[in-house]
Amino acid sequence: MTSTASKLVRYAGITLGLGVASAASLYAGGTWARKRPRVEVRRWHTGKLSTPLKVLHVADPHLGKSDQWLKAFMQSLAALDPDLVVSTGDNFGDVGVVEDLKEAYAPLLQFPGVFVYGSNDYYSPKPKAWYRYLFPHLPAPKRNVPDLPYQELTDFLTSAGWSELYNRTQVLDFSGGMKVSVTGTADAHIKRDRLAELGPLPQADFHLGVTHAPYQRILNAFRDRKVDLTFAGHTHGGQFCLPNGEALVTNCDLPRPLASGAFDWLPAQEGELAFVCHPESASLPVGADLGAFREALEAATGSSVPSVPDLLPQGTMRVYISPGLGTSKFAPLRFFCPPTATLWLLS
Ligand SMILES: [Fe+2]
Repeated sequence: MTSTASKLVRYAGITLGLGVASAASLYAGGTWARKRPRVEVRRWHTGKLSTPLKVLHVADPHLGKSDQWLKAFMQSLAALDPDLVVSTGDNFGDVGVVEDLKEAYAPLLQFPGVFVYGSNDYYSPKPKAWYRYLFPHLPAPKRNVPDLPYQELTDFLTSAGWSELYNRTQVLDFSGGMKVSVTGTADAHIKRDRLAELGPLPQADFHLGVTHAPYQRILNAFRDRKVDLTFAGHTHGGQFCLPNGEALVTNCDLPRPLASGAFDWLPAQEGELAFVCHPESASLPVGADLGAFREALEAATGSSVPSVPDLLPQGTMRVYISPGLGTSKFAPLRFFCPPTATLWLLS
């Protein structure tokens, strides 16, 4: 081999080695980040509630067989002592995890709860068809028969008193005679939503909306029925974000700035969107003592948790989209988008 050829071989080897090392570091960083769950806290003085309401929102666990860290984190959320738990689906990360899911939810069942499901509660994860990366206009393989034991999870949750909101509304009673209506839809991502079946909202002091995938048609329908606050998941906050937290995709028909967080969904002309984002929130450090935080909240006369604006303009609905807790088993990484459960302090 000539000296020029041997130099070329050496440079190619160094380049390849650097590429492999970079990819390995990126992968290690992404897998480390996906196992660092946090609690986000938000406050809203609605002026409509006679009793303060702490709502815990859990979204997209995608619990896998080896995700004991996530099961323990979900169990630890009971220390927040919520008045209501809202679960917006995509619980299953694999087949064979229903017992783990029951254990994850068990400590939360002492509180009132409502839930809706996402596609990953019915269908086990499958890798994306490779040809759709090259030819995205070609149809995806159709799956019509659920292969996950969602009914077993439903029975477990409902037997503890939680309500499944499959295209229906439930009124919940709280202390002091306060009534909160919660309207849910089935997963819009797999076209199970039936908005015509929802009807007008019942009498209540405050109206919540709950859905898995926040497609515009769901947000419009809830807003037009005068829902005050809607909870959704599905987007994973983008999951792979830029260093400033900007999402690259939403996996639905919302624009990227709405991939996660709180915003007001305003009335808009046909074909237009109008929204105002509320980025203010507090975040408890990873591994924070949630019981101590709850006690501090109860003891504090004032709180450092920032508030979204009190006033919700007429005809507007507030929305919160959770970055969620898990990932698909085929992309078990998060970048600049930590796994999140959220506590809303409503008053
Ligand atoms: Fe999901």
